[in-house]
Amino acid sequence: MLILILLPVAFLLPPGAGAGEIIGGWEAQPHSRPYMASLKIQRGNKSVRCGGFLVSENFVLTAAHCNGDKIIVVLGAHDITNEERSQQVITVSRAYPHQDYDKESHNNDIMLLELAERAKLNRWVGTIALPCANERVKPGAVCSVAGWGGTSTECESTPARLQEVDVVVMQDAACLRNPNGPYHNYNSSSMMCVGDPKMGKDSWKGDSGGPLVCGKTAQGVVSWGPPTPPGVYVKVSTFIPWIRATMRKLQP
Ligand SMILES: *[C@@H]1O[C@H](CO)[C@@H](O)[C@H](O)[C@H]1NC(C)=O
Ligand SMILES: *[C@@H]1O[C@H](CO)[C@@H](O)[C@H](O)[C@H]1NC(C)=O
Repeated sequence: MLILILLPVAFLLPPGAGAGEIIGGWEAQPHSRPYMASLKIQRGNKSVRCGGFLVSENFVLTAAHCNGDKIIVVLGAHDITNEERSQQVITVSRAYPHQDYDKESHNNDIMLLELAERAKLNRWVGTIALPCANERVKPGAVCSVAGWGGTSTECESTPARLQEVDVVVMQDAACLRNPNGPYHNYNSSSMMCVGDPKMGKDSWKGDSGGPLVCGKTAQGVVSWGPPTPPGVYVKVSTFIPWIRATMRKLQP
């Protein structure tokens, strides 16, 4: 049985934290998710954070809405406020948001980041497998999501250590496209509906750009949603051809 812990930090998050909002969750076993990346994004004179995940030695996958003027990737972290020996801090040489990313509808909210240098794979830093093209996760499957939760560096109270939570994959109908409802932009061919509304405020969505992990595979990317579950994730399996083609193209 899962015991959901309400994080006190949830009350300190800035309003409008959106899909990066933490509602409940627990601290992950340190370095149990070696694919996790923390992104420091510079946007004009503002600095924001997102999650991401390592898919090869030199590519991190994240959400397109995490794009900025300059991005730095921290790998191998557990406590992002410390300079841990396990950490590798690498700048992004090129950000490649999906060419059809639509800010309004959130469609195609996916982005590849090319690292300026290859990550050294070791016990703290590793890649996560991607699904097969068009693979489908059955509703009812229990997956997990992790992140450091913060969306603003102006807020010093975001969790320092990696947090995680289990979430249930819902039927597409749970993100009903009622024109006046929060899910009117839900697109079942490119998005996943995740998180049981019955769990109410005790569910946790992780930060934007972080992976939805089902078994050993990154099936989703934290994307958007109303303050309460279900949340909407990018359906990674739809974008496998785009991911492969983009990685080939950017590869020197
Ligand atoms: C940041 O940039 C905005 C717009 O470019 C400006 O209005 C604001 O004063 C700047 N803030 C600081 C702290 O420099
Ligand atoms: C749903 O997403 C797919 C894949 O991005 C896209 O081809 C299709 O046009 C979208 N449908 C709507 C109604 O936006």
